[in-house]
Amino acid sequence: MKITSKQLRNKWLDFYQNKGHVNIGAVSLIGDGTTGVMFNVAGMQPLMPYLLGEPHPKGKRLCNIQGCVRTVDIEEVGDPTHFTFFEMMGNWSLGDYFKKEKTAWSVEFLTKELGFDINKICSTVFEGNESAPRDEETATLLKNLGIKEENIFYMGKKDNWWELEGTTGTPCGPDNEWFYPLHDNKCCDTCDINCSCGRYVEIGNDVYMQYKKEQDGYSPLDHKNVDTGFGFERLLTFLNGFTDGYKTDLFTSVIAHLEKVSGKSYEDPVFCRAMRIIADHTRTGLMLIGDPNGIVPSNTGAGYILRRLLRRAIRYCRTLEISSDELLNVASIFIDEIYDEAYPFLVEKKQDILDKIKAECTKFESTLAQGIKEFDKCIDGINRKNTFMAQKDANYVADKTINGKQAFRLYDTFGFPLELTVELAEERGYTVDKEGFNAAFKEHQEKSKANIGTFKSGLADTGVATTRLHTATHLLQASLRRVLGDEVKQKGSNITAERLRFDFSFSRPMTDDEIKRTEELVNKAIEDKLQVVCQEMPIEDARKTGAIGLFGDKYGEVVKVYSIGDFSKELCAGPHVQNTSELGHFVITKEQSSSAGVRRIKAELR
Ligand code: ALA
Repeated sequence: MKITSKQLRNKWLDFYQNKGHVNIGAVSLIGDGTTGVMFNVAGMQPLMPYLLGEPHPKGKRLCNIQGCVRTVDIEEVGDPTHFTFFEMMGNWSLGDYFKKEKTAWSVEFLTKELGFDINKICSTVFEGNESAPRDEETATLLKNLGIKEENIFYMGKKDNWWELEGTTGTPCGPDNEWFYPLHDNKCCDTCDINCSCGRYVEIGNDVYMQYKKEQDGYSPLDHKNVDTGFGFERLLTFLNGFTDGYKTDLFTSVIAHLEKVSGKSYEDPVFCRAMRIIADHTRTGLMLIGDPNGIVPSNTGAGYILRRLLRRAIRYCRTLEISSDELLNVASIFIDEIYDEAYPFLVEKKQDILDKIKAECTKFESTLAQGIKEFDKCIDGINRKNTFMAQKDANYVADKTINGKQAFRLYDTFGFPLELTVELAEERGYTVDKEGFNAAFKEHQEKSKANIGTFKSGLADTGVATTRLHTATHLLQASLRRVLGDEVKQKGSNITAERLRFDFSFSRPMTDDEIKRTEELVNKAIEDKLQVVCQEMPIEDARKTGAIGLFGDKYGEVVKVYSIGDFSKELCAGPHVQNTSELGHFVITKEQSSSAGVRRIKAELR
């Protein structure tokens, strides 16, 4: 069956909406701190509280197509099947229907909607262990639905148990996976889903989420959920008879564009890899920038991953001998032609997305060539040393390592993400001392911290004046969010005895009126003589209270939540005044740009 990406999207959503599901649409790709992961890595992730029992406002049957970002495999991108952004077609039962309905609908979707032959569908179920029983119930249902007994396989935890690795307190359970052969030519007598020849493709799975992952083991959930995930790109590739995901209509116009402007062919393996990397990384980059909680390239956290992606794409433009400006054209194709219907907000934010990609291109281009020269110098230095040593000692083994200091210099002075140095090194048969890099990085960080003389909360000391300004900072953030919206998030804070300085995400200068309203809100909170209350609680509970702040990545960690009346609730280490009446009069003295997408306010208490 030949099918376009837009058709497949609609098919999935129509099918489940016809079965009483509400399409909840996709949510932000940027992790909200719930699981400690930086990006949304699975369609179920935003639904975590509801899978654990909280009622969802849209009901018990939900579906959507959710974007996910996984960058652990970034080095694999360039092959036919890896993507750093992908979409998952999902549907959920939140304590509603269970295995009987779900198996029937999955079979109906595969056979009626996708035209699969029931005699060829293969399915795997959980074989059971000390945490959960063997899933004979699902196997029997499958048999009754017409799946051949020899096509049903029992498998262990590695294959048929789904959970978010590295988390606790998250829902999980056994899963039922679906496989279909690409063609009928067995590679050997025993060619089945376990065969490595690649004839069978896993196209999706239904997770029966009835457990909660604890520190040590699993506890049963009160209600049983279904969590379905079908890989959109993978299924689209499969349905069109391809094994190369970049041949689907999600990528063809981008690849054709790259072929045209470079005059190079996708059939050439070197250029093919570069084209895939450029296409994939630009797509993920524009999705992260254009996201409702959009981020910008930076040197920390999610922003650093975005920077790595864009810089890697820029570097591969050199392989194709094209200008990095082509990333803008690639991004435009994705925004205007491919994702215009599914993500209309990308079209609205197009210019902003392109501007931010362009800014990163400009920044990196200017140092890339110099950095590569510097890199070549490192290699020359290593080679000279090797030649010299070999002349002195016949048994000398050539050293082919770029040391940590050299790698850090490339990072610090030329903006080379470590991975880029590693990749350049590998291409020439060298390695990089990553531990040495980390040590140099840490040393540098400690030095700069010592220089500034501040610590995490941005306070220079904990005197009365700074404590008052610190509480005022909480009032300021809460007020900014009321005046400018929830996109305001703290990006930095620095407090001296004289003034506070607060950096926050916001894409344009504030108007005079907005500044005035913000000031008024803070002063109103001061006049209202609000009590400041500190509560200690596990981070999961803190999240549920709606507190804002930087949620760390440690589940179970106990944190302090400071509430200022009903006005502000924020994760913080303190110290604070006890009542806002201690603050005096609040005045914003400056509103200015801090960096791309980040504004800076300076304010005083008088
Ligand atoms: N949560 C399941 C997955 O990610 C559906 O595959």
